[in-house]
Amino acid sequence: MGDKGKFQAIKGVRDILPPESALWNRVEQTARETFGTFGFAEIRLPIFEQTELFARSVGQETDIVSKEMYSFEDRAQGVITAMKDAIQMAMVSPDSPDSINVFTATLKRYETLVTTGISSAEIPNSAAIQVYAAGLRHGLEILERFQRDPENKWLESIGFSGFSAIIAGIKALAFAIPMGENIALRPEATASVVRAYIEHGMQMLPGNAKLYYTGPMFRRERPQKGRYRQFYQIGAEVLGSSDAPGIDAEVIEMLMRLFERLKLKGAILNVNSIGCKNCRPAYVEVLRAELLKVREQLGEDSKRRIETNPLRVLDSKLEHEQAIIATLPRIADHLCNDCRVHYDEVKRQLGLRGITYQENWRLVRGLDYYMRTTFEITAPGLGSQNAVCGGGRYDGLVELLGGPATTKGIGFAIGTDRLILSLQEAGEGATPSGYDVYLAWFGAAAQTAAIGLAHRLRDAGFTVELPAAEMKFGKSLGLADRLKARHAVIMGDDELAAGVVTVKRLTDSSQQKLAEQDLFSYLRSQNPK
Ligand code: HAM
Repeated sequence: MGDKGKFQAIKGVRDILPPESALWNRVEQTARETFGTFGFAEIRLPIFEQTELFARSVGQETDIVSKEMYSFEDRAQGVITAMKDAIQMAMVSPDSPDSINVFTATLKRYETLVTTGISSAEIPNSAAIQVYAAGLRHGLEILERFQRDPENKWLESIGFSGFSAIIAGIKALAFAIPMGENIALRPEATASVVRAYIEHGMQMLPGNAKLYYTGPMFRRERPQKGRYRQFYQIGAEVLGSSDAPGIDAEVIEMLMRLFERLKLKGAILNVNSIGCKNCRPAYVEVLRAELLKVREQLGEDSKRRIETNPLRVLDSKLEHEQAIIATLPRIADHLCNDCRVHYDEVKRQLGLRGITYQENWRLVRGLDYYMRTTFEITAPGLGSQNAVCGGGRYDGLVELLGGPATTKGIGFAIGTDRLILSLQEAGEGATPSGYDVYLAWFGAAAQTAAIGLAHRLRDAGFTVELPAAEMKFGKSLGLADRLKARHAVIMGDDELAAGVVTVKRLTDSSQQKLAEQDLFSYLRSQNPK
């Protein structure tokens, strides 16, 4: 909450208001039309999924999963959750038999509910949870033994600190049992598309599954221009048994056609191949060995990445690391024969489609599922967050998520926020004023006629503002100007008597009287739809 108790949107998220929202609609509609001509159909996906889906596909060690995901326990509300909280809050003292009795009773009830929860699958059943539940039972036995020992001999033997440790252990075990699945707001949608592909057996469909999606994604990044915590993507994926390089090239072609239609200027396509599980590990070791030699000259992030993921060092934007990175071994020199042939053919296929590109050996992408082709598109006007789209091939992902090993995949996601920003910076974002007609009426009889005329104009596709209450003439026409309506249609007693309306073109104040049927053809001639 901000000052004076007013609410504000949460940091890193924002409202998209008119007239900008009209540009968003135009961009999304153009994407639907363009992708449709390539045979893609829309998939609507859930906003949240099991956290594990993203951990396994995007990669546990990636920034997206390890630092940026909004994940939480999907807690079933009810008695069991209340008991879990009560156990955490309980004050238990060996001096107070009452506190021990209440705690033991709560724990006993909780343990019973956990056992039934596991058997009814309300609580996920895993080896770890079985261990926690057994631990709880053991804790309960200790407490019951303590209750049966009125002379406190046992307390004497373990001491106060021993007792506190037992209670703390029981609390920790009770806390560790999840009350529901761990779920996450999606940080990206490729994992969801693959999950849906497997879940619905789409490998049985004829040909490739060609799917597109639009919608919000969530990453807890540091907000700045072009980087938000809720941002939007327009993405597309092709899943099927073929990894023909022509698919890679056609997916990129589709993207470039969309950008052309949207008149996005200055977009630069970067492509690379990051090899496969046969050749990349050897390259990564060569790279790691070279990085170790220059370790001391690198920043903290890169030093850490030498261990966790040396490829990501190539992504570094740090000024002083650039000269060092330029000397590092390049993956192109370490591709296996299959990957080299695939990459050469992707480039040839891009050429066949007249698509210009830059090869960028440092383009490694921040998600673990990629192999072979990777690509990114930058656009002007975006500052440091200039990647407007990223994508690539992910042939092993379907298998990794439990689907058929024969299914291959490739796709991309456009950052819609960035695409819109770039279009706006280039002056492509302007949207025409909303109203074709401002219908100014004066008097009760004119209002009745105006309601009918507004209905017919809207049915004919014109956008009409009809004042809800009567206004003075000057005020009403002033509002028409401020709304930037293209025409004011004026209806008063004189017009009603003569069976006409007065039409004023607000761009030049020219005015004429027209019968209704002439009004329609006049408006059409002014604003062909
Ligand atoms: P990504 O590179 O993580 O790839 O994201 C794709 C695009 O989303 C980026 O190029 C950028 O335009 C936009 N984007 C990412 N994070 C933010 C943010 N915090 N704020 C604004 N825009 C952002 C993926 O998400 C993959 N799933 C793409 C893909 C689909 N690969 C294969 N299929």
